[in-house]
Amino acid sequence: MPGSPDFPAALREDGFCFVDADTMQAWLESDGALDDWAQFRASWNDLAPDRYLEKLGKQRRRRHAVFTLSRSGSRDEDIVREPHQPHYQSLAYNTLQGDIERWFEPILDPVAGSQSLQAILRHCQRLFGELAPGVRRWHAEVHQFRIEAQAEAPGQPTPEGMHRDGVDYVLVLLVDRENIARGTTSIHDMHGREIGEFTLTRPFDAALVDDARVFHGVTPVEAIDPALDSHRDVLVVTLRDADRAGRGNGVSPGTYSAAAGG
Ligand SMILES: [Fe+2]
Repeated sequence: MPGSPDFPAALREDGFCFVDADTMQAWLESDGALDDWAQFRASWNDLAPDRYLEKLGKQRRRRHAVFTLSRSGSRDEDIVREPHQPHYQSLAYNTLQGDIERWFEPILDPVAGSQSLQAILRHCQRLFGELAPGVRRWHAEVHQFRIEAQAEAPGQPTPEGMHRDGVDYVLVLLVDRENIARGTTSIHDMHGREIGEFTLTRPFDAALVDDARVFHGVTPVEAIDPALDSHRDVLVVTLRDADRAGRGNGVSPGTYSAAAGG
């Protein structure tokens, strides 16, 4: 794998790591071509409002899809999109919107089948497979998120605050950032201590998170120039062992309330 081999070690030792854009792009390209990245990035212009958050007076645009990733290197290695289904988090992980099945607009077929997303999923399959070699199949949920900052209202990438997603691993990949200030990611341990802080600023900057061990959250975003459009676009991929019974990983949420976003 190109780039520093210490990144997966940091994930193993610390429960998270920040991966700079150059390294992340090289890692992804080692798992597939990114020739359609420009179209992939442009697909964030066609997301749908989060109707569930709107009821709470908050704004976020998104699309969602579920894939099964069979173990990298196995004879049946494969990436299969599953039928469209709701996104579910228990109340233990999402005190804002837990215990409800939330149906989001599906990720469009050309995006789901794009070279870029396939390379990203292939990379998740391989990287997290190295960390958890006993997992045969991953249940992978893919979220396209756009946060817009308005003059009168900062955008909230993680309206639920510091949280865990109730999965095994999380990738947050910055796709685009336009006229945006702040949006700092912080990582807290199970005792509520901050153990890391970084800001995804360049496309391909990424956060890798061991969701069973740490909480993550992102500060609100503001427009640098309130007169202009602004957005922060991220791809979030969550993985949990598909063969584990039930939804979520069942680990106590610890200090904070919890749930999805990046
Ligand atoms: Fe999250």
